[in-house]
Amino acid sequence: MSVDTAGAARQEAEVSREAGRRRTFAVISHPDAGKSTLTEALALHAAAISSAGAVHGKGDRRGVTSDWMEMEQDRGISITSAALRIDYSDRVLNLVDTPGHADFSEDTYRVLSAVDCAIMLLDSAKGLEPQTLKLFDVCRARRMPVITFVNKWDRPGREPLELLDEIEQRIGLRPTPLNWPVGIAGDFRGLIDRSSGTYTKMTRQPGGATKALEEVLDADEAARVEGAEWVQAQEEIELLEALGADFDHDSFMAGESSPVLFGAALPNFGVGQLLEAVVGLAPAPAAKADAGERARPVEAAFSGQVFKMQANMDKNHRDRMAFVRVSSGRFDRGMVLTHAATGRPFATKYSQAVFGSERSTIDTAFPGDVIALVNAQALSVGDTLYDGPKVEFPPIPSFAPEHFVVARAKDAGKYKQFQRGIAQLDAEGVVQVLTSDVRGEQAPVLAAVGPLQFDVVRHRMEQEFRAPVETSPLDYSVARRTDAESAPALHALSGAEVLRRRNDGELLVLVHNKWRLRVIEREHPGLFMEPLLAGGVVEGD
Ligand code: G4P
Repeated sequence: MSVDTAGAARQEAEVSREAGRRRTFAVISHPDAGKSTLTEALALHAAAISSAGAVHGKGDRRGVTSDWMEMEQDRGISITSAALRIDYSDRVLNLVDTPGHADFSEDTYRVLSAVDCAIMLLDSAKGLEPQTLKLFDVCRARRMPVITFVNKWDRPGREPLELLDEIEQRIGLRPTPLNWPVGIAGDFRGLIDRSSGTYTKMTRQPGGATKALEEVLDADEAARVEGAEWVQAQEEIELLEALGADFDHDSFMAGESSPVLFGAALPNFGVGQLLEAVVGLAPAPAAKADAGERARPVEAAFSGQVFKMQANMDKNHRDRMAFVRVSSGRFDRGMVLTHAATGRPFATKYSQAVFGSERSTIDTAFPGDVIALVNAQALSVGDTLYDGPKVEFPPIPSFAPEHFVVARAKDAGKYKQFQRGIAQLDAEGVVQVLTSDVRGEQAPVLAAVGPLQFDVVRHRMEQEFRAPVETSPLDYSVARRTDAESAPALHALSGAEVLRRRNDGELLVLVHNKWRLRVIEREHPGLFMEPLLAGGVVEGD
């Protein structure tokens, strides 16, 4: 073996080992289910951060604020998104943050393209909520493994069996509880581990989000201490066994069954068990298919895909960051990569790990890690960066917009700035930009999944690009893909309009509402109209 080959083999072995240590996941939930609290609790539990609150908790937001983060603070919502690295025993957990507000769901959807597993977080009193369902649909379309965490068990809530039933009935996901609560929601005593039968009694510590006092008891001792609650939990577990609700690896990996854990993030009950489940069950990064459907193994030369762009996170540096999920190979800061879309070199002198207000420089990264590249003006969401022979990953599907406005520069003299700003927001995926000869370049149509995205556009156009815009809503709520043949006939119909999407050149027909769409489909069956989402993700209609 030559020296070069030996070196390459050593690096491959290192990459393979490092990838195997990683678990990259996101938490999907409805606002207020406790995502921020759980994130802090996970990090606290793994002792990755010294005090709860360093993650962007709503109550204690510190450090960097940019001007659009001010907007975020005013509204008390989370717009920013990045990844938290948690070192936990010999594993590296990458928790990719998802924006909390329903209006930023498109962003959230993209984040899900960068993870290998999701934690579906439910509020024990509320069960499945609208945004949980939408996000779960994306996981299902990707056949992503989902671990369920039923949170807030320290507060009055629903019966555990009723919650499991809801999961099975409403989304067809077979729940397989890994642990079982003793004591109803609101009177949480502890958790029985179903595989070992051990009982962990939890005692609340004063001071809120500190690590709960946990005491492991044997069955006799537990029965004596917990009395009737213990008996009831045992009966319920027997029922689960009779139903065959046991963990099954293959159906979990196929996204058909979901291990369920109970707990409470705020007093840190059951969070350790959740960490263990992520480490033990979530898959390590695996080979990813490129645009030609060839699987690129994790040991191949460096490659990664931009899943999120973010501008202006720090007032002092009007920077533009690209968040890249590493797919293969080893990343070393300073590497010069190739940008697949243009073939141009991309220098990575400045690469960082970012979470909430915390930033730190990243020197090396491996498959499953998320790196933030600054000075990333040339990059767009979905772009591939690679080292060595060319590779390009398929685009991240863009989601069906449901809100549409026409944008115009308030000051005609600022047209250049207007164009530049709109192009940048398009590249970042803040909104989709649609144009047509009829409307002209001066008045593009902006399309979004949620209307709050237009607030971000107005704010950033004024503050960042110095080109204030006025937007007027359009009376459309449905978009379909069409083709050049059908476009003229569709455009001529009332309640419909055809435009071209700038970032991929697709022709879209916008329709007043889904009833009008049904009528058009019925009356003009020959016209081509296709739901927009790749990957089988359901639309919001
Ligand atoms: P989100 O990121 O999903 O939107 O939820 P977040 O963590 O902000 O939690 C929403 C509310 O639920 C917070 O209360 C939080 O303290 C509470 N919470 C989260 N997990 C638990 C839990 O396990 N038990 C209990 N009892 N409460 C929990 P808040 O009053 O809205 O906000 P705050 O003032 O406490 O920050």
